[in-house]
This record gives sequence, C-alpha cells and structure tokens, in this order.
Amino acid sequence: MRVIAVTGSASGIGAAVCTRLEAAGARVIGVDRRDAEVIADLGQPEGRAAAVAGVQAVSAGRLDGLVACAGVGPQAEPASAIVSINYFGARDVLTALRPALAAGSRPAAVAVSSNSSTLPGADGPLAAACLAGDEGEARRVALAEGGHPAYAGSKLALARWVRRSAPGPEWAGAGVRLNAVAPGAVLTPLLREGLEHPVLGPAIRGFPIPTGAFGAPDDIAAAIAFLLGPDGAFCCGSVLFVDGGTDALLRPDRY
Ligand code: NAI
Repeated sequence: MRVIAVTGSASGIGAAVCTRLEAAGARVIGVDRRDAEVIADLGQPEGRAAAVAGVQAVSAGRLDGLVACAGVGPQAEPASAIVSINYFGARDVLTALRPALAAGSRPAAVAVSSNSSTLPGADGPLAAACLAGDEGEARRVALAEGGHPAYAGSKLALARWVRRSAPGPEWAGAGVRLNAVAPGAVLTPLLREGLEHPVLGPAIRGFPIPTGAFGAPDDIAAAIAFLLGPDGAFCCGSVLFVDGGTDALLRPDRY
C-alpha cells in the first residue's frame, strides 16, 4: 500500500486529492491546521517542524508520495502570512520529508503552485527573497506590496524552487521525482472567499477561462495523481498548468 502525505487535506483541492488517492488504495496522511491526522500550522517554523515530526511518526520515516497543497489566497491577512504558508510552508515540508521519500518506493512529490505565478509583477523582490530563503525579507515585502503580489510571487517562487531542485542530486538523483501543478480558478472555499472580496471578486470574475467555467477540485487532483503515479514516471521538474486555458490565452508565445 502506498503511503502518501497531503498538506491542506481538510478542504478543497487537498481534500479531493485525499479522496482520489484513498479510492486508489493509498494510505493517506492528512496534514492541516484543522480536521486532519496531523494538525499543524505551516505558517510557523514550529508548526512545520511539528508537521514533519507527525508525518515521520505515522509513516515510520518512509513515504511513497507527498503533496504540498496547503495554502491561503490573496485575500488572506496579514499578507506576510501568504508567503510564510504558501512558499516557506511548502518548501520546508518538502525539504524535511525528502529523506522519507528517498526511502519510499517509486517516490514522487507534487507542489501546488498557481497560474497566478505568471501574472505581471509576480517576478519581483518577493519571489527573489523567497528563493534566497529569507523569510523575514519576503514577509516585509509582502506587507509592503499587499496580498495579490504576495500570492503571485510566492507561487512563482514555489514553481521555480521545484524546477531548480527537481533535477538535482537530492531529488532526481535520489530517485525522487518532484513536480508542480499550476491550477487556474478552481471552485473551493479559497476561491469563494476571493469572489466575495470587493476588489478581488470582480478581478477573478473578469479572468478569461477558455473552457468556460471554474475548475473542480478533482480536476486538479487528477493531475496531481498523474504526477505522483507511474504514468508520470518521466515527469521531473514539470510545472503542469491545469487552468482551462487561461495561461495559454494570456501568454501564448511565452514558451
Ligand atoms: P482551501 O481553502 O479549500 O484549502 C486549503 C487548505 O489549506 C485548508 O484546509 C486550510 O486549512 C489549509 N491551510 C491553510 N493555511 C494553513 C496553514 N497555515 N497550516 C496548515 N494548513 C493550512 O483552498 P484550495 O483552493 O483547495 O487551495 C489549495 C491550494 O491550491 C493552495 O495552495 C492554493 O493556493 C492553490 N490554488 C488554488 C486555486 C483555486 O482557485 N482554488 C488556484 C490556484 C492555486
């Protein structure tokens, strides 16, 4: 039985991932700040350490899969929490559980980025501070720039961290595949909160989705299951956009 840890397991995309993996026979270890086997706040270093210790204890130090899905939207306050949860929470859990993955069977990890990562302004000082590992500076820039740039920058940094790390000796070299998904607008509690926001709501509704409607959590869970499983065996450092065509529409030639 494959043993797979999923952060953000209590809601939305993470919950859909758990349902899909369990239906396929996996033993899923949910990690969340509420309603999970391992309760931890990934926005704090101590919480990340508790999450890692909890997963290690339940899995006896051997994981076949890991999904770093926990995150908050651009409406979360304070904006500094966005970088701490979305970038540092994901990166630290992936990094600390990498040895457990290396001990697993055909192991793979998936980080959940966003198609917001390619929006104008994402590639700035906040993403640079994240990639430099400077959480204090990233939090400072987030507070100065606000929620939307903090969200886009943290998700760009996460995708870049995946691309930089995946082919290296610690990941591919140790037999662990690392990839990312970049979802577009998916109807979850996070998106619903955004839709209710006076500024973000109209912006989200104005975003074009060529396939016609918001995605469902299981649309993203299917892509994550693919990247985790044997059909994704040749994927390494991929950032898979699953967004109804939004990124292709807005940036057709950025490839
Ligand atoms: P959601 O709000 O339904 O689920 C997020 C989960 O993460 C919740 O269970 C929440 O408790 C958990 N979480 C949040 N902060 C945490 C913390 N500090 N410690 C531990 N757990 C924490 O949201 P959704 O939409 O399912 O989002 C999942 C991921 O997908 C996030 O990383 C989000 O940024 C990303 N995403 C979502 C999109 C969407 O349109 N829904 C689009 C692109 C990316």
